Amino acid sequence: QQYTEEIEQFAPQSPEELETFRLKFMVAKGVIRDLFEEFKTVSADQKRVLGKTLNEFKQAVEQKYKTFQEQFASGAKVSKKEIGDLTLPGDGVVIGSRHPLSLVRKEIVEIFKKLGFTVAEGPEIEDDWHNFTALNFPPEHPARDMQDTFFIKKQAGNDIALRTHTSSVQVRMMENGKPPFRSIMPGRVYRNEAISARAHCFFHQVEGLYVDEGVSFMDLKQTLYHFVQELFGDDTQVRFRPSYFPFTEPSAEMDISCTICKGKGCNLCKYTGWVEILGCGMVDPNVLENCGIDSTKYTGFAFGMGIERITNLKYEIRDLRLFSENDVRFLKQFETEL
Ligand code: PHE
Repeated sequence: QQYTEEIEQFAPQSPEELETFRLKFMVAKGVIRDLFEEFKTVSADQKRVLGKTLNEFKQAVEQKYKTFQEQFASGAKVSKKEIGDLTLPGDGVVIGSRHPLSLVRKEIVEIFKKLGFTVAEGPEIEDDWHNFTALNFPPEHPARDMQDTFFIKKQAGNDIALRTHTSSVQVRMMENGKPPFRSIMPGRVYRNEAISARAHCFFHQVEGLYVDEGVSFMDLKQTLYHFVQELFGDDTQVRFRPSYFPFTEPSAEMDISCTICKGKGCNLCKYTGWVEILGCGMVDPNVLENCGIDSTKYTGFAFGMGIERITNLKYEIRDLRLFSENDVRFLKQFETEL
């Protein structure tokens, strides 16, 4: 009787457990054999009852053993069916790809890092001081209208707005440190423009600032020329055109020979063979002074470029809206790029 329950509940997890079971009950010196030995000693009356029980018990043990033996023997096959064919290649894990703007930002940053530039960032929500005033935009200066600003909050003398350029980070950097400065500052900027293939209400810039004793326009030209050759290849031409920014004097815009048509003329360069990629100039002494830097001792250059424009040139992208629509068919094309 004591064994019946044990047999019922027996459910071996491994062939080893099943073997222990067999050794306990089924071998020549096992429990079953012992019980049959005992059986011989009881009275004829008892034999009738016990005989039946004993036989049932023996069968139960054998049945149990057989069931699990078969299960373990075919074990591999059964579990294979459940898991599937292990030799088949697995389902690929779908991973995303880097955004083209991130790829190009990274490339730009790497080039300047090799020249000893550090990387800095600043807030996208800026005050008037950092975005305009410190950068030599007087209060009613028309250049404030050139950049259609998204204002967040009007406050006396220092409105809060979304930054219209990364030049605000220059100010923060110079206010909070001591020269020399040699940094690039990538980030998102906002302008209140109607969205089209050629304009968007936000885009990305990389700002550059180099301030030290004796920095000249020659340093600016050579640095940017080197940058273009690294990014677009040795045969890329550059040209500087005089320009105007309140915070640089003199100021220039830099064009590169169109990397798509190689100067033959295409719609990306508007059939001129040249594409403007950045604005630059020598940091205006007023800006240095506004940031607490001695403009009689230090000079510097600054530049600001649009990442979208450069990405368009690198990958022949003709519609700015693609960058922010998250169309997988567009994004997937950059899967192989690191
Ligand atoms: N901030 C200017 C722009 O947004 C670019 C620039 C940066 C020009 C630094 C000169 C120096 O267009």
